[in-house]
Order: sequence, then C-alpha cells, then structure tokens
Amino acid sequence: MTTTLANPAEKLLFEVSKPGRRCLRLPALDVPKVDVKSALKGAKLRAKPAVLPEVGELDLVRHFKNLAQMNFSVDRNFYPLGSCTMKYNPKINVTLLSLPGFTKAHPHLPEADLQGHIELMCTLESWLSEVSGLPAVTLQPAAGAQGEMTGLMVIKAYFEEKGEGKTRRKVIIPDNAHGTNPATAALAGFETVTLKGKADGSVDLDLLKSLVRPDTAAMMITNPSTLGIIEPRMVEIAKILHDAGAQLYMDGANMNAIQGVVRPGDLGVDVMHFNLHKTYSVPHGSGGPGAGPIAVAKHLEPYLPYPRPMKTEKGYTLANPNPKRTIGKVRSFFGNYGALVMAYIYMSQLGREGVRRNGENATLNANYLRAKLRGVYHIQNDKACAHEVVFTDAFQHKDGGPSALDIAKRMIDYGIHPMTIYFPLPAVTGGHGAMMVEPTETESKETLDYFVEVMKKIAQECKENPDLVKAAPHTTPVSRVDEKKATTNPQLYCAMCIA
Ligand SMILES: Cc1ncc(COP(=O)(O)O)c(C=O)c1O
Repeated sequence: MTTTLANPAEKLLFEVSKPGRRCLRLPALDVPKVDVKSALKGAKLRAKPAVLPEVGELDLVRHFKNLAQMNFSVDRNFYPLGSCTMKYNPKINVTLLSLPGFTKAHPHLPEADLQGHIELMCTLESWLSEVSGLPAVTLQPAAGAQGEMTGLMVIKAYFEEKGEGKTRRKVIIPDNAHGTNPATAALAGFETVTLKGKADGSVDLDLLKSLVRPDTAAMMITNPSTLGIIEPRMVEIAKILHDAGAQLYMDGANMNAIQGVVRPGDLGVDVMHFNLHKTYSVPHGSGGPGAGPIAVAKHLEPYLPYPRPMKTEKGYTLANPNPKRTIGKVRSFFGNYGALVMAYIYMSQLGREGVRRNGENATLNANYLRAKLRGVYHIQNDKACAHEVVFTDAFQHKDGGPSALDIAKRMIDYGIHPMTIYFPLPAVTGGHGAMMVEPTETESKETLDYFVEVMKKIAQECKENPDLVKAAPHTTPVSRVDEKKATTNPQLYCAMCIA
C-alpha cells in the first residue's frame, strides 16, 4: 500500500529543522566572552551566520540511521564490484586500531616513543617485500595512483642520474591497463604509447618489440589485468624491456589473485605497487583512506622517498639514507598510518599460508562463477581467469534487449550490488557492454550459488519481460535515476540554504 504521508525520519534535515531545536544545550558561559571579529582580525568572516539545520538528537539519529540503511555495504550483502576487491574486512582490524597506543600516537612524538610504530612499519615493509619478491618497499603513497606516481618518479630519477632523463620520454601501456596508468604516466611528464592487446587480452610480444626504442623509459603493465587475465609471458616482456635499457612497472593492485603464489620480482619486475585497500583488507570506497606502497628492485632503492623506517643497532629510526638521490617526500609523515596498521593486523592473522590461500580462493571463486554462468552470459575470454571474470551483455542486448546497465540495476532488486559495468571499455570487449564480476575469496559457496541463480533469473527476465529489467530497480527508495542528466545537469543546492 502506498501512502502520501511524509515520514519525518525520511526527510532532509533542513526540512525537519525548527528554529531553536538543539541536540545539546551548553552550560552558561563561565569564562569571559570573546568578540570573534577582534580575536580573528583580518580573517574573512561570514557576513551572515551559516544556515544550518536545527534539530533534536532523536531527529538526527533517525535521519542518519535511515540514510545508513539505504546504503549498500559489504557487511550487509554481496558486493562483486569488479576491479575493486570489495572483500570483507574483519572487524578486529578496527578494534585493534582503536587501541589508545594507536589512536593517541602523534607523528611528532620523539622517536624513542615511536619505537613500536616504526617496528610495525619495518615489519609490514618486509612482508610486502616478501610477497613482491623485491628488496625495498616504501609505505608512503596514500593510494594506488599515488604509488604509480611514486614509482614513475623513482624510474625518472634513476634515468636522470644515468644521464638518460631527457631521452627516455615514453611509457608503453597495454590497452587493458587500469585507467590510472596512462593518467599517471602523463602526470609524471612521460608520453604514453598504447600497446594493443591480443584477442585473448595478453601482450603481443612482436608488437611490444616494435614499440620498445631507445626513448622508452618503462612499460606499465596491470597484472593480473583488468580483463582478469594473468599475463603468461612476463619474463619475456621483462627481457625485451631490459635489453633496451628500459624498466618494467607492474600495477599490482590486483595482487589479490596471485599473492603468495607468484612473486613479481622473480619475473623481472623493477617496480610495483600494492593497493592495501584492495588486497590487505583496508576498507575503501567513498575515496579512501587507502595506501599504495611500492616495492622496487635494488638499483632503484636509493631513489625511494623518505623518511624510511629502519632498524639500527640503537633501535628503530626514521631515516633519510640517500639525501642526494631520494625523490623527496610524497606524503606527510609516514603515509596513511591507520591503513598500514590495518594491513599489518590482517597480514599477521593470515600468515604466509593464509596469504597464499587468499590468492588461490579469490581465483577459484571467479572461475567457479565463470563456469556456472557459461552459456547464460557471453564471456569475453572464456579461459581460466584470475580474480575476476568479464561477462558481457552480447546475448541480452541484441535486438534492443536489456543492456549491461539494465542487468546491473536489476541485481539491486535481488540484494546484490551491481558488478562493474562498461569497464573494460567496449573497445576491448568487442563493442559489448562489459560486466566485470570480482567475487573475492571471502564469499561462501552458498553466496556464490545465490548469485548464479539471480543472474540466471535475470537472463530469463531479459527474454520474457525485458521491460521489467529495463525499469529496474523496483525495490529501492529511489528508482531508476537519469544518470546522464544527473551528471550533466546536477541540481546541487538546497532551497533553504540559498534562501
Ligand atoms: C588495477 C588498479 N590499478 C590502480 C588503481 C588505482 O588505485 P587508487 O584508486 O587507490 O588510486 C586501482 C583501483 O582500484 C586498480 O584496480
């Protein structure tokens, strides 16, 4: 039954605001009153007070509880958002991070009082070094993209010292690399050269050989790729680059699939970054906070940013061992420290064996879905995949049937977060709308089976009742949004605020 009555708990706070309502009443002032204008001389003060909603505590709590329940989270439902590794983050990460030893620490404390923190960073670096097979790590970058930038700056500094900074101007990037790779290379001042992938998503070695020249600084390869494919010829790729004096950068944000199984350093990778907020259980979404440490080969270590946590005979210290060669600082203090602590807690629970099992199970789960949905949805590369599998809407969207977008919206009605759609781009998916599913290792077989049933049901609906799918979602507080209009003509104002 629908009703036209408006529930105050579902209104905007501005709509329920009443002058004078407060969550809290402060006691009368017991210190001398200060005139703000004279205390903050020269500051740009507002001419009029800001319009803020005035509400009681109960209105406020109901408002936010309602909003929180409209939100979709991995704690409530399956969230197979490809390329994002939305694995469940154990609550103990946050419980331990909330201990006063962490929450009350300040980066300006004397080094003697930071000993445990520096030791934690040294240990985390050594674990990431072991997983990467590369000897030196910096934890400073605050995101994957910043890790890429740091890695390329390190490569640039290396070539500058060799006197090749001006000649090595180009970075080769496969067309199925993550979108941040070309953006980073351009931001770091390199020219990008696109390497078209083979039909199966792997690197075309002959094409690569023809592109590698004396002006090549590096190749940036996302491995496993955004097509969920593990590159089978990394050793040959590394050789082609090294023979030409260039470097191999690996975007390791998808390490979830191969961690503990393959070490990029053993394959000839010179620099790689991790996304701790994908692989090592740091929550992500809504822009962070994350961490994108990089691991580098020995010849690149002198250029790493400082401060570097180190162990000396006297104890732990934050050092700048190569003041003349370091690229400098890339982040304030020691990086996103809370994220580093969570990754440390997670990895210490997993141990070596657990890290490997995560990689194996993430891969097994993606391949299980690939096998179960074969024939129901078109599969872009129907061969063993890594941590994610790319389906497309080729079977459903033909003759004007529902598209990847419609299918994704319909999943919401069954309590499943939509997978990533239209990425990889249609150019690498035969012009079809991609539906990239990354189940992660944390999901049970029962959840995966439910997903399979839902996807089969939606495929059937696409045939029997396409309009139902095209108008989805039907069970959410807000139904289908005009996404184009929302992006091109957003109405980002509140009538009361500008009144
Ligand atoms: C493969 C890959 N590379 C790079 C990035 C960029 O990482 P961030 O969003 O932390 O900058 C991502 C993000 O998910 C990614 O999946």
